[in-house]
Amino acid sequence: MLQYPGNIKSILPKINTSIFSVMSALANENQAINLSQGFPDFSCSPKLIELVNHYMKAGHNQYAPMPGVMKLREKIATKVQELYSAVYDPDKEITITPGGTHALYTAISAFIGEGDEVIIIEPCYDSYLPAIKINGGSAKFAELKFPNYKVDWDEVQKLINYKTKMIIINTPHNPSGTTLSAQDMQRLEKLVKNTEIIILSDEVYEHIIFDNLEHQSVARYPKLAERSIIVSSFGKTYHTTGWKMGYVLAPEAITAEFRKVHQFICFSTNTPIQYALADYMDDKDEYLGLSAFYQEKRNYFQQLIKGSKFKTMPCNGSYFQLLNYSKITQEADTEFAIRLTKENKIASIPISVFYHKKTDNHVLRFCFAKQNETLEKAAEKLCKI
Ligand SMILES: Cc1ncc(COP(=O)(O)O)c(C=O)c1O
Repeated sequence: MLQYPGNIKSILPKINTSIFSVMSALANENQAINLSQGFPDFSCSPKLIELVNHYMKAGHNQYAPMPGVMKLREKIATKVQELYSAVYDPDKEITITPGGTHALYTAISAFIGEGDEVIIIEPCYDSYLPAIKINGGSAKFAELKFPNYKVDWDEVQKLINYKTKMIIINTPHNPSGTTLSAQDMQRLEKLVKNTEIIILSDEVYEHIIFDNLEHQSVARYPKLAERSIIVSSFGKTYHTTGWKMGYVLAPEAITAEFRKVHQFICFSTNTPIQYALADYMDDKDEYLGLSAFYQEKRNYFQQLIKGSKFKTMPCNGSYFQLLNYSKITQEADTEFAIRLTKENKIASIPISVFYHKKTDNHVLRFCFAKQNETLEKAAEKLCKI
């Protein structure tokens, strides 16, 4: 082993390896069923794989244009117009990125610097806070109210001051599985009126929404869209999380700043996959049918664990189900999650890790993007606890 001869001054001294890596590794080590990290255990469409192969063999193996392959950007523009009645110029307002996390990081880097404040609403995806800190900014925290995980916009309003540069929202929401409503969006619109606040809208689960609810993209609200960066992910939509492909929609002036940073973080995104996705997007059923597909999985999982001591929390979007375990034990959620993985061979994610203060309401997150057989095995274990 080599030894670095100096003292390393960490830029993120309090941050350790992400909980998703930790729990997935623990699941592997203990041969546990892994409902922790958010990825499907079934394969993506063979047609999509064939298309990627086709474009590789056809020689599309060099750098894509910095903002992305135009054919793909055009397809995205058409989709967004059809779904949300919003017009984005593929040339100046759409950028293809290596996944949603990269897009979030780039957006934060492009707009947040020393002294700037960003409002984040916890529990939240774990990349937001480190990205803000790396760039010299600081976060102000609002909390989704347990047990319904609704946003308290009065609380958000109180956090706004002259330093507030950005508010990050996420719908459908990871980890809670809740969604923002039209009223939420109207309230947000009022909050930011007469400010220069940018909205970073994490919509990677836009096609996974249940019970006939409509996804409330900021793109539907012109007064929000004009100040928003929308982040989407092909990984969630096409069961290809390992490909790390996503895109960003934002007005021209915002996109110009976004691309200044994007070009120096990655320059461009995987070429043959972009061509393949452009063709694959012609099949609208693939994304329009995703909500029904996952709603069935959610219902099945909920039905399977009905007889257990876990309490099902409301879930109307994303592919995560929260379960409250207060009737089983008063252990900390991190300890219980580890014990479940080691002793009961089922891995989940403790929700406290999604809060900077590690708020613990005795809730674990289970990913139901799994084959029915996996869900059955998992439920059998959960019902025995
Ligand atoms: C809320 C949220 N945003 C962003 C991402 C990242 O998406 P990607 O896998 O495309 O980087 C995830 C992935 O789990 C997520 O849950």
